[in-house]
Amino acid sequence: MRGTITVWADHDLGLIDPNLYGSFAEHLGRCVYGGLWVGPQSHIPNQEGLRSDVVAALRALRLPVLRWPGGCFADDYHWEWGVGPQRRPRRNLWWNQPESNEFGTDEFLRLCQAVGCAPYISVNVGSGTVEEAVNWMEYCNSAQASYYANLRRRHGHPQPYGVRYWGLGNENWGCGGNMTAQQYAYECRKYACFMKKMGVDIEGGVYLIAVGHDHLPWNLEVLRNLEGALHTIDALSIHMYRTGHPAQGPPSTVADDSPEHFYRLLGEVPGMEEKVCKTADLLDYYSTADHRLDLVVDEWGTWYHDADEGLCQQGPLKDGLFAAAVLNMFNRYCKAISMANIAQTVNVLQAVILTRGSEMILTPTYHAYEMMKGHQGATLLASRASSVNLADDKGREYDALSLSASRSADGKTLTLSVVNMSVEEDCQAQLRLSGLERLAGASGRVLTADSVAACNDFGEGERVRPQPVAVNAALPTFTHTFPAKSLTVLEIALP
Ligand code: AHR
Repeated sequence: MRGTITVWADHDLGLIDPNLYGSFAEHLGRCVYGGLWVGPQSHIPNQEGLRSDVVAALRALRLPVLRWPGGCFADDYHWEWGVGPQRRPRRNLWWNQPESNEFGTDEFLRLCQAVGCAPYISVNVGSGTVEEAVNWMEYCNSAQASYYANLRRRHGHPQPYGVRYWGLGNENWGCGGNMTAQQYAYECRKYACFMKKMGVDIEGGVYLIAVGHDHLPWNLEVLRNLEGALHTIDALSIHMYRTGHPAQGPPSTVADDSPEHFYRLLGEVPGMEEKVCKTADLLDYYSTADHRLDLVVDEWGTWYHDADEGLCQQGPLKDGLFAAAVLNMFNRYCKAISMANIAQTVNVLQAVILTRGSEMILTPTYHAYEMMKGHQGATLLASRASSVNLADDKGREYDALSLSASRSADGKTLTLSVVNMSVEEDCQAQLRLSGLERLAGASGRVLTADSVAACNDFGEGERVRPQPVAVNAALPTFTHTFPAKSLTVLEIALP
């Protein structure tokens, strides 16, 4: 098939917050224990308990922000049980597994320092108290001679950690307390009031994220009931898990390599865009000239029927391409979205990393994030792609090419990320780079495989990984072929 891509390099559309490329780690299955943390006594190489290979891989990804400790776990988490020399083991209520509390606040914040990312902590609104949340902030951020700041010092951490991002609960319409929107808004008003005040320890204040829903009426109800207190929150979060399940018939699996499933999965992206767009409009309506409300998507990704009981599932190529198409869409909404966190970091759902004992593999989703990291902090450029329309069996139609384009902060690189979502056909595209006088070179990498269900597996080496591809970039136009079922990232050097 043939296509056209146009980038207006002199038409800026806003800054892409690096935090759109964030992740989420919950005490669930083997995400924390075994994935991020093996303990200092482990034979697996570690930095005081943190898995060295995973830390290095997340650093290489340039992970900007990590959300913790949940998820559903957050609304049953009592942080004081997980600090200091005496940890209190308990049952992990939501995920039905033991919780040693060996990995707690100081371990999480040390992980973030080792990776070089910002921490984002969700407090317990469902079964906790405002007091517990405010004390947690004092423990993390206070430089005063107060009780919890001194406790942190006694635990060997003299300097405040400076945690800026705080979530006010998690899915409080469900596992976070089965609340109504009015009830949640009432709780949220209290938490935000005191937490915002406590947040003065951080330069510019803390950033508070309230719980929204991808069932949109909840959002309207929460915002309506927050009137008069909207200045105390900074963002509303929604979660978006997608499966590509058929309307009828057996649910989808990781190993399903059929074009039907692939088109259904990628066909979820326009639906996700609609949720983003409608929620962003609502937040716009409730924003004022002095106080803007952002959209955060702090859990999203694939969730297959055959995930195991710890929600571990393999990561096929189709997940990497789905991630890239979603990230392209998030980039395009960079004026509205301030953060997004894929679920989850290691060994759970659409993980970027899988571990088994001392082995580690990088999933195609990892590679999509790594290939697209040039968009972090860059300026979104106006761009357009058109080829042929794909359709799924739900009647949804979308263009086979997904695209976003940006210019790096130093002005030296244009990054174009292009997903060809056709399973069968390569796309020979004509690219027009408008608004440029000269180029200084170009390089490209492509991620693809024989099958959309192809995975990297333990002991098999990395079958699905990016490969370099020649790019004959020229002005004003040049052609490039985007293989079927692939992500291509072109980096165009500017003089
Ligand atoms: O990521 C797994 C779970 O999905 C989270 O705990 C919850 O917030 C969501 O429903």
